[in-house]
Amino acid sequence: MQEPYRMEGLPQRVTVYEVGPRDGLQNESAVIPVEVKAEFVARLAAAGHRVIEATSFVHPKWVPQLADAAELLTSMERVPGVRYPVLVPNERGLDRALEHGVTEIAIFGSATETFAAKNLNRTLDSQFEMFAPVVARALEHGLKVRAYVSMCFGDPWEGPTPIAQVVETGRRLLDLGCYELSLGDTIGVGTPGHVSALIEAFGGPDRLAVHFHDTYGQALANTLAALRAGVSVVDASTGGIGGCPYAESATGNLATEDLVWMLHGLGVETGLNLDALVETSTWLAARLGRPSPSRVVQALSPRK
Ligand code: HMG
Ligand code: MG
Repeated sequence: MQEPYRMEGLPQRVTVYEVGPRDGLQNESAVIPVEVKAEFVARLAAAGHRVIEATSFVHPKWVPQLADAAELLTSMERVPGVRYPVLVPNERGLDRALEHGVTEIAIFGSATETFAAKNLNRTLDSQFEMFAPVVARALEHGLKVRAYVSMCFGDPWEGPTPIAQVVETGRRLLDLGCYELSLGDTIGVGTPGHVSALIEAFGGPDRLAVHFHDTYGQALANTLAALRAGVSVVDASTGGIGGCPYAESATGNLATEDLVWMLHGLGVETGLNLDALVETSTWLAARLGRPSPSRVVQALSPRK
């Protein structure tokens, strides 16, 4: 249906880091049975995803939506060649992840003081004391460790986040031994020039990924800015579901289908089957009891 038109300076291929089962489902009010989650993950792999963030080993009272993390990992199919990272904040979370055969984790830091308190019950500085032993032990066990840094562009309580503060926090997270840092626009307030400036302040795209929430409709434009700056790993959530329960005004992530439509239109390879993704989102929307917010899903879904 699409004829690709390439633009200068874009990567040949982009890795879509799918966060729907974690960032998407952590924010749903409906209780989703673990069988539905397992089927969701299986459908994503069948649609061509090679990285699927499956769940979180956070405190179950903090995020009850993902309290079934252990059950999910026990019951879901793991397709060879597909990576299934999980979120882990602390050593207790790491112990639980290791018990369930996890081979890849993601820690999640905050670039601001207020969000560190609200999301992690830590100060900006003391979050590193929590993460350091997690990363050290995970590496000893041969795990791959990714890091997120949240509130990179602005914070609902503190306003715009100074770029230098994001770079310092992000560097400290990377220096713990993480292979990649995902720059989180948790509340979706960033704009493309800000994205370019932030990547430049990091000294270029090396080891950077991007994670945009679409609250202000900027996620695709911001992604294009990141791609032009050399980033080639983009987080997205099937159907555009998602948000953070500890950040008011955080709505869904960049929808995977919207991203894939743009990338394939630009002739950038993803390995993903857009029809299968749309079908998965339509299937999931019926289980969540609300339509997918993705524009591409709405455009391509069969009309009733
Ligand atoms: P805390 O209350 O400070 O924990 O929470 P603690 O270390 O004081 O421990 C208290 C009790 O909880 C202890 O039990 C621990 O064993 C237990 P007790 O001894 O009292 O019986 N406990 C746990 N149990 C199970 N699993 C665990 C665990 N940890 C402690 N992992 C904590 C600190 C970090 C645990 C808490 O703040 C938490 O779970 N926060 C997670 C919040 C969260 O998941 N937010 C959403 C994900 S972040 C996000 O969405 C942003 C992102 O998408 C990027 C972006 O958009 O920017 C990644
Ligand atoms: Mg997020």
